[in-house]
Amino acid sequence: MRLLALSGSLRARSSNGAVLRSVLDLHPGPSGTADIGALPHFNPDLDGEGATPPAPVAALRTAVAEADAVLIVSPEYAHGVPGVLKNALDWLVSSGECVGKPVAVITASPFPTGGDHANAQLRETLRMMTGDVITAACRELPAIGPKTDPATQRVTDEATLADLRTAVGRLTAAANERSATAS
Ligand SMILES: Cc1cc2nc3c(=O)[nH]c(=O)nc-3n(C[C@H](O)[C@H](O)[C@H](O)COP(=O)(O)O)c2cc1C
Repeated sequence: MRLLALSGSLRARSSNGAVLRSVLDLHPGPSGTADIGALPHFNPDLDGEGATPPAPVAALRTAVAEADAVLIVSPEYAHGVPGVLKNALDWLVSSGECVGKPVAVITASPFPTGGDHANAQLRETLRMMTGDVITAACRELPAIGPKTDPATQRVTDEATLADLRTAVGRLTAAANERSATAS
């Protein structure tokens, strides 16, 4: 069960990056990440019939295609989805790698709301893209700052780690179910 994790934060000491690393630590199978910061701005002129996609776009599409499940971990900016993440999703709308793919969204914020606006918007976009949004694996993590260790860049709060373990377990269970149905 290969898990691909995408971060909506490009910040070196990102709290969402800490959540992402912790989830990958908890996932027993193969996993990977993709560098969405290297993507050009989405332009349908570069994405038409017969067009060769820019190399970072092709790499992202391959990474999503090869994953059995996708996890998005993101902050919320101005009650919305970070532009870099929406840009990445826009590159994936027409190419189809997300169709039927089990996907979950985790938003982490220093505030009590846990990035709820961005979480809802991401789920809506992924549903529109006909991804299989596994609601039971989605999380809004509030007051994330003190729950992470800047030195290890991991989550240290035991309750949050237990909840993340449950979330990634539900996502991988959905992916396993999908591959069992397909075979
Ligand atoms: C431009 C900007 C807008 C922000 N807007 C929100 C917001 O609407 N809701 C929220 O919960 N946090 C907001 N924040 C705070 C981020 O959640 C916080 O900076 C967080 O640490 C970013 O995630 P990261 O640590 O993974 O980079 C904003 C931060 C910035 C820089």
